[in-house]
Amino acid sequence: EKGTYPHYMLKEIDEQPAVLRKIVQHYQDAHGNLAVDQEIVAQMLQADRIYIVACGTSSHAGWVGKQLLETLTHIPVEVHLSSEFGYNPPLLTEKPFFIFLSQSGETADSRQVLVQVKEWGYPTLTITNVQGSTLSREADYTMLLHAGPEIAVASTKAYTAQIAVLAVLAEVVGKSKGLPLTVDMQHELGIVANGMEMMIDDKEKIEQLASEFLAVSRNAFYIGRGLDYYASMEAALKLKEISYIQTEGFAAGELKHGTIALIEEGTPVIGMITQENVAGHTRGNIQEVASRGGHVMVIAMDGLNEAGDDFILPKTHPLLTTLNAMIPAQLLSYYASLHRGNDVDKPRNLAKSVTVE
Ligand code: F6R
Repeated sequence: EKGTYPHYMLKEIDEQPAVLRKIVQHYQDAHGNLAVDQEIVAQMLQADRIYIVACGTSSHAGWVGKQLLETLTHIPVEVHLSSEFGYNPPLLTEKPFFIFLSQSGETADSRQVLVQVKEWGYPTLTITNVQGSTLSREADYTMLLHAGPEIAVASTKAYTAQIAVLAVLAEVVGKSKGLPLTVDMQHELGIVANGMEMMIDDKEKIEQLASEFLAVSRNAFYIGRGLDYYASMEAALKLKEISYIQTEGFAAGELKHGTIALIEEGTPVIGMITQENVAGHTRGNIQEVASRGGHVMVIAMDGLNEAGDDFILPKTHPLLTTLNAMIPAQLLSYYASLHRGNDVDKPRNLAKSVTVE
């Protein structure tokens, strides 16, 4: 039930800190150490490549998962859209391991790939929010998101939960490989949860920015590099699907290779800056957009921020910053949709789980 909330989406956005804490609690052993089903870990240790297969928001969580898994486990990762993989599968390595990401566990495009991969005989893991769902029953292994039912069509808490579960998985596999880089994931996810709470408290400011800059625009951009690019893709989907503003998530450095032609006086462009190694470059790209009349908003992590930035994210581990960055992005889309008079929880043309190919 949505209780006192006007919309499920707002409730589900607010639940995210609690969901992260629940995930940390769930994925630990009797001694309080991070833990994942040993069989999953053993299978992944044998793999020469991980294939993440998903649709929509779940695929965007997959891109962040790729970064987490490659950094912490040193296993190469490919991310594929289910609807593409189904008919044009990539050339596979000898020992692939498949991860299906699906909030509902019922997405037909993803199920079709799972059925195929099982026929080929490769090991499969479904990460889902729904115990007993089709993708969970049909895969060899399941990891649950523990996010509670997600009712709003626009996925919010499932996205952050998927990333958190992938972070846990990456850390546990990396550790059992004895790699030098380890992250105290329980601690770091706790810091993220606290940071999310701070961002969630900023609703008034976010609503005001949404009503000022997203109330009438026809198009918008999110830009970033690296993890900020992956977050931009998700932020853009969130904004477009419920506000109906045509929004693209773009690799900041790629804009000048064509798409910058679309920037006009007042076009909203939201820059994401959470990664130190590319912060300066993204700043440069934001400058290019601003000088062409774009209306720039910046979401930057504390320490990488500059005067005039709209949102300062509390400092977190650099691999986990997209979790915090998503809070203002989700809320911007919520308020943009609200101010445009749309049905926030049930946007036109969309269904919560897509059970046709
Ligand atoms: C967007 C959204 C969709 C789903 C996609 C996959 O907010 O919710 O893009 O992410 O349809 O659904 P699942 O994760 O249930 O397989």
